Amino acid sequence: MTVPQPPEPIPGARLLFSLDPSVSHLNHGSFGAVPIGVQRAQQRLRDEMEANPLRFFTQGLVDRIAHTRRHLATFLGADPDGTALVGNATTGVAVVLQSLGLRPGDEVVTTDHGYGAVAFSVARECRRTGAVSRTLPVPLTASDEEVVEIIRAGLRPGRTKLLIVDQITSPTARLFPTAAIVGVAREHGVPVLVDGAHAPGMLPISVASIGADFWVGNLHKWAYAPRGTAALVVAEGWRERIQPLVVSWEQDSGFPTRVEWQATLDYTAWLAAPVGLFTLRTLGLDRVRAHNAALAAYGQRVVGDALGVAPADLLEPGGPAVAMRLVPLPPGAAPTIDAARELRARIAERLAAEVSVASWHGQGWLRLCGQVYNTPEEYDRLAARLPALLA
Ligand SMILES: Cc1ncc(COP(=O)(O)O)c(C=O)c1O
Repeated sequence: MTVPQPPEPIPGARLLFSLDPSVSHLNHGSFGAVPIGVQRAQQRLRDEMEANPLRFFTQGLVDRIAHTRRHLATFLGADPDGTALVGNATTGVAVVLQSLGLRPGDEVVTTDHGYGAVAFSVARECRRTGAVSRTLPVPLTASDEEVVEIIRAGLRPGRTKLLIVDQITSPTARLFPTAAIVGVAREHGVPVLVDGAHAPGMLPISVASIGADFWVGNLHKWAYAPRGTAALVVAEGWRERIQPLVVSWEQDSGFPTRVEWQATLDYTAWLAAPVGLFTLRTLGLDRVRAHNAALAAYGQRVVGDALGVAPADLLEPGGPAVAMRLVPLPPGAAPTIDAARELRARIAERLAAEVSVASWHGQGWLRLCGQVYNTPEEYDRLAARLPALLA
């Protein structure tokens, strides 16, 4: 069976990371990896903070955060005045949910491709307010047009107070047509929260052109920022209503400062995040994106072939630009979330390979990522050893 050629490596890129070389790190999507230069930049900021904490926190930190926010928002194609830095996508979602003022009878609509912690957050807010949540099933192989139709049919104008859709889904690595979805939701008067956790850095995005009421995305995955760096983007009409999870001294400063300032926290991740963007740009944004997507496609094919998966079953639900690819696991390999976690840990321990294993509707899926620090041989090694482990 012919396997696609792996991409040319980006010279020196692997050396930018401090990853354990005895492990194949094939799951950049879950927690990212921070380049050494970014780690150093953050450490310099921490050194500055520890040299004089009073001066660090009280002299100009709010302005430095605002400056960083403008830089990161510009990269995302978002309005800087509508962008708040937050610790992670999960926090951004929670901020939106608890600012909506849901009431009994209201509903929040999601899809069955959503992220688990986001579903828990929706469930808790519904319990707290008496609202209900409804999950729309979307087949993995549905076309973009079918996805939009499923969503159109699933909205209940007047009752649906929020639709949450992912830009790139976590368990299924699917790219959703978010701008078109926002378009139909708008026709029905339904506000939309786009969970773009994986999008920054992986795809060329313009948050403004998606047109959602709310958008969240992590810079600590594919944009090489230190962990704890995410953005919540809010459309103009909503900004006044957005409340932070924790009230701080900046409560009267309005959006976005009152959301960003969460008392005595370590804000150095945000301040160092532009160095991550600098690293990406130095390597070449387009080159990194093309490399990562092509390497993930290569990995999908070699591992899929090794497991005897027919090429037609090696789906590309995210399209060619997504640097995460799925391989279906044999029946019974990961029928539950717990079984998927156990299998992931076993692969890590026995094969020295970090991968994502998801259980989606009882079917196990291996999710393989491509990054500049990966080599084709890492996927070849996994392909050679995984069948025996699963047997
Ligand atoms: C689609 C999606 N949403 C939200 C998250 C949560 O990200 P974080 O843990 O940074 O809040 C993830 C993490 O992988 C994700 O894939």
